[in-house]
Amino acid sequence: MKPLYGLIGYPVGHSMSPDIHNAALKDAGIDGHYHGFQVEEHDLADAVSGMKALGISGFNVTVPHKVEIMQYLDKIDVTAERLRAVNTVRLEKGQLVGYNTDGEGFLHSLLEALDQPLSELSFLMIGAGGAARAIYMTMAEYTPKSFDITNRTIEKAESLIESAEGKITSSAIPLNQAEERLGNYDVIIHTTSIGMYPNVEETPISLTKAKKTAVVCDIVYNPIETKLLSEAAGLGLKTVDGVGMFVGQAARAFELWTGITPDARKMKSIVIEKLGGTPC
Ligand code: ATR
Repeated sequence: MKPLYGLIGYPVGHSMSPDIHNAALKDAGIDGHYHGFQVEEHDLADAVSGMKALGISGFNVTVPHKVEIMQYLDKIDVTAERLRAVNTVRLEKGQLVGYNTDGEGFLHSLLEALDQPLSELSFLMIGAGGAARAIYMTMAEYTPKSFDITNRTIEKAESLIESAEGKITSSAIPLNQAEERLGNYDVIIHTTSIGMYPNVEETPISLTKAKKTAVVCDIVYNPIETKLLSEAAGLGLKTVDGVGMFVGQAARAFELWTGITPDARKMKSIVIEKLGGTPC
């Protein structure tokens, strides 16, 4: 039987996951297919048991199902448990096992841009939602020098910090204070949807007080260069766009399913080309 892979989410019409995974399957010589399935929240339980009954080899999970799906799976791996969300499922001996590759995907793309060890760097993260949690709980395993969080709702930043149980040196900081103290940070990571298409003129923070050597990352990848990143580039700061994280999580999911490491640069080119940028 040809292996079948997929994505469940709502909506999935504009997802680039089928493009990059089908190209990777072809390159790996696997005669399989990856399909996007649009699943509404009230159909999630049925969709998951359907996936299992049909013997789908693996699938990705996206908004809004990353948390809800956990109750319908047979097993959850420790990382996904810690991140409290699943973005990748693999069928293992008839059982559906949930994983989360978002944090590792982000870390991989960040490390490519850094020339100092994480232990020497002070981080500021903007946002405290699901994507922020994946990044924060992953970074907590790698002990950066410090990792502060700023968020519109400060309580959410505080509760995210509490859930790492002191593994990482962090403070929750109101947005205006973070802006004032921006010069303290080596890496600034934006994790909210501010600046995402169609609201391309929005930016989460003013960068005027940032260090000249700071690295600015945005997990938004549509547009590839958000207003935040274009302001950072204008100030001469190094930038990391969201395509790297998207491709990083996909590459790790592909490895989990097939045992084969896909060509992440090719995956990135496909995404950039589809978004109307210049392929690398
Ligand atoms: P995701 O899973 O994509 O991270 P989420 O869990 O809904 O989405 O989290 C969204 C994050 O973006 C939160 O940090 C949210 O701030 P609040 O905790 O205050 O809600 C932030 N966010 C979204 N829209 C925002 C806006 N217009 N201004 C400031 N923060 C915003």
